Amino acid sequence: MNPSSPLEQNLDPQNWDAMRALGHRMVDDMMTYLETLRERPVWQPMADEAREFLHQPPPMTPTTPEAVYAEFTENILPYPLGNIHPRFWGWVIGTGTPMGALAEMLAATMNPNLGGGDHAANQVELQVIEWFKTLFDFPAEASGILTSGGSMANTLGLTVARNIAAEFDIRHEGLSAAPRTMRFYASTEAHSSVKKAAEMLGLGSDHLRLIPVDENFEMIIPELEKAIAEDRAAGYYPFAVVGNAGTVNTGAVDDLEAIADICQREKLWFHVDGAFGALVALSPELKPMVKGMERADSLAFDLHKWLYIPIEVGCVLVRREPDHFNAFATRASYLASHERGAAGGTHWFSDYGIQLSRGFRALKVWMSVREHGIEKYGQVIAQNVAQTAYLAQLVDAALELERLAPVPMNIVCFRYVVPGMDDEALNTFNKELLMRLHESGVALPTYTVLKGKYVIRVAHVNHRSRREDFDLLVETVVKIGNELKEAMGVGA
Ligand SMILES: Cc1ncc(COP(=O)(O)O)c(C=O)c1O
Repeated sequence: MNPSSPLEQNLDPQNWDAMRALGHRMVDDMMTYLETLRERPVWQPMADEAREFLHQPPPMTPTTPEAVYAEFTENILPYPLGNIHPRFWGWVIGTGTPMGALAEMLAATMNPNLGGGDHAANQVELQVIEWFKTLFDFPAEASGILTSGGSMANTLGLTVARNIAAEFDIRHEGLSAAPRTMRFYASTEAHSSVKKAAEMLGLGSDHLRLIPVDENFEMIIPELEKAIAEDRAAGYYPFAVVGNAGTVNTGAVDDLEAIADICQREKLWFHVDGAFGALVALSPELKPMVKGMERADSLAFDLHKWLYIPIEVGCVLVRREPDHFNAFATRASYLASHERGAAGGTHWFSDYGIQLSRGFRALKVWMSVREHGIEKYGQVIAQNVAQTAYLAQLVDAALELERLAPVPMNIVCFRYVVPGMDDEALNTFNKELLMRLHESGVALPTYTVLKGKYVIRVAHVNHRSRREDFDLLVETVVKIGNELKEAMGVGA
């Protein structure tokens, strides 16, 4: 029993045995929940009562831990987004694993702060970063940091680029001291987080010059060269290029070697957004797809996408550690590192990013990679790519469906076609079809717009999917499309 008096309270359980029993029950329930995923819909709308339950005034008095858990299982647990399910292929959201979930519990129990100090958790993060430096052929002098995700990894990488490439002391003087307007480049298919970074870094999205893409949705390299030359002639200061290792819309990979060559020649920072695509490098047979990525000055990638680690965790690697350090390091007196003791340690992650307090996201990565080994990850990633090619075949074979983009990696974009219907009407039709598909609970792809055409988009980073899941997807899309066509009285 907790011996605290009413005058000296704490938040530990009144009854440790009861809390232990509840913890065991939670673990049992969660393992069963994951084991039986296939028996449930991918997604279902929240019941009104559950929604209402989550609109209450702040609770001023206690509820027993058992009752709080019951509220969770009744009102929250039945309504996931769906990305744990074998037939979820929406946005680019990974699946998670049981070990990843358990590691989250262990990390929260230790509850360390990875901003700095001399303790084991920092060493775990350093170890994870060393692993990815090796796997992605980065040099020993590179550094890195785990982030909340790809958006933050892109932002940190581009911050280093901006700070290091600037012709002036940007950290002290700010952008208003710039003798020339700074500009950087990415393809029109670059992820929205790159634009957000341009805005947040004070560069302005007008100065992120978007380079057109070819029919494979890859950056047209001569257009990049032309844009840089034009901007130099117009008095701008080009400082960086973002290459895509797997675009969010279609999984296209830019010619990273060519971009690396241009950056070398033009003295520009080469940032690669490899949010999910970078991970194909774990598969020996797929690794050539991202050739040139290893030449990046900074590389952003996510571990919560194609390493299937529970959300959140991404990473940025920076080729030269001093660049990384010099972009962020700042130490107030209360943060100075000491020669010995808990404030010791030579590598404080708060010197390599924006966060001071940082969670132990490294543990779930470390434990998962230890559990499965890199070879297995490479195999499952390759399996995802093969399953995606299988889906593309199914789409191509279905008379009602039209594929709208090449399938270089793990994304298939397609739509249901109604003969005689124009693009605008087809856009509305396919959007309605997709919402009905979500409501059916059978499968959950999402959407994008390619050249003005609304498409159903499957982005596959799901270790639980089987080929039969894609059979069911195509059958169900065709069935819903046929029903919708009939209900609207359109088509033949
Ligand atoms: C290519 C690309 N870059 C960046 C991101 C952003 O990553 P996150 O959602 O982890 O912030 C995504 C997300 O899907 C992406 O596909």
